[in-house]
Amino acid sequence: MLEKTGRRWLRVIHIIFIASLMGGLASILVINHLIGLDTSQLFIANYSIYNIFNIVVTYSFFGVITTGLVYSVFTHWGLTKYWWIIGKWTGTVALFLLVWIWLGPSIIGMVALTDIGFNSSQPPPNYTNYHNTLTPVIAVALLIMFTLIAITIFRPWGQRDQKYEMRRGLVLSLTGIGVVLGVGLTVMGHYDLESYRQMEIGSPDLSQVPDGIHRGSVSYSGFEYTVAVKVNGARIEGVGVVKNRDSDYARFAEGIIPRVIAKQSPDVNGITGATTTSKCLMKAVETALEGAIK
Ligand code: HEM
Repeated sequence: MLEKTGRRWLRVIHIIFIASLMGGLASILVINHLIGLDTSQLFIANYSIYNIFNIVVTYSFFGVITTGLVYSVFTHWGLTKYWWIIGKWTGTVALFLLVWIWLGPSIIGMVALTDIGFNSSQPPPNYTNYHNTLTPVIAVALLIMFTLIAITIFRPWGQRDQKYEMRRGLVLSLTGIGVVLGVGLTVMGHYDLESYRQMEIGSPDLSQVPDGIHRGSVSYSGFEYTVAVKVNGARIEGVGVVKNRDSDYARFAEGIIPRVIAKQSPDVNGITGATTTSKCLMKAVETALEGAIK
């Protein structure tokens, strides 16, 4: 069990993570309400929101859950002994779902669409939907957080009259297994993703590519991305997406096509928020062109 000093430090670290989580959400709210921005300024604003979400909100959230877990395993408060602790876990899970099911995808949608580009005075309808999702979701998230702070201060509902409290050894081993699995899978997923994001994209010599429509595919995470590239007179005239995942995120990545045609090369900047799929489509274009040369 944690001693007095340890509990004091835990409380400080717990509060720091909560403060930065609230600060991150509030900053996103403020930036999202900036008005009169042109498309490039809008992209910078959304890119800041995207980074605040990926760094501040994400890591603070993991910090809150980790310190909450330490409270439940290494202090007398336990996991299911007190109703207010159960209330805090319930609130934290609700917060997690809210942030990751609604806020995350809306932020990715906003940054990807502004990266692709549109006339900021006539934003596409899906952009407006994403934009209008942020305020209510963050308002509810902050409301949940203030409720959890109030629950912590007033500690209502007292101690549970329970016949059975999970033995600490069991909680420890379950937590340990959960943490090892969670961290292991996250690290594996991260390196797999990074290997694709850092993938080199070549610039095939178009003068060697015969006229016609050339197909190319790339497999990633069990899916085969396929494109058809139209070449005429050593110029890329068009790129058609034959197979792509059926999601908004994957469709954002198709924003690389005008860039490939403009640069006459598959080696272009990917779409922010859809980097991995962008790379897969670029590699498929490169494969199509290289395949036609052979
Ligand atoms: C993940 C689940 C969580 C658990 C198990 C948990 C548990 C605890 C415990 C046991 C304390 C210390 C009480 C004490 O000894 O004084 C505490 C303090 C605190 N918690 Fe949490 N917490 C969790 C999540 C959260 C969240 C999400 C928030 C805010 C949104 C929050 C806000 C606070 C605050 C502000 C304090 C300091 C209160 C004070 O100093 O009086 N906690 N928490």
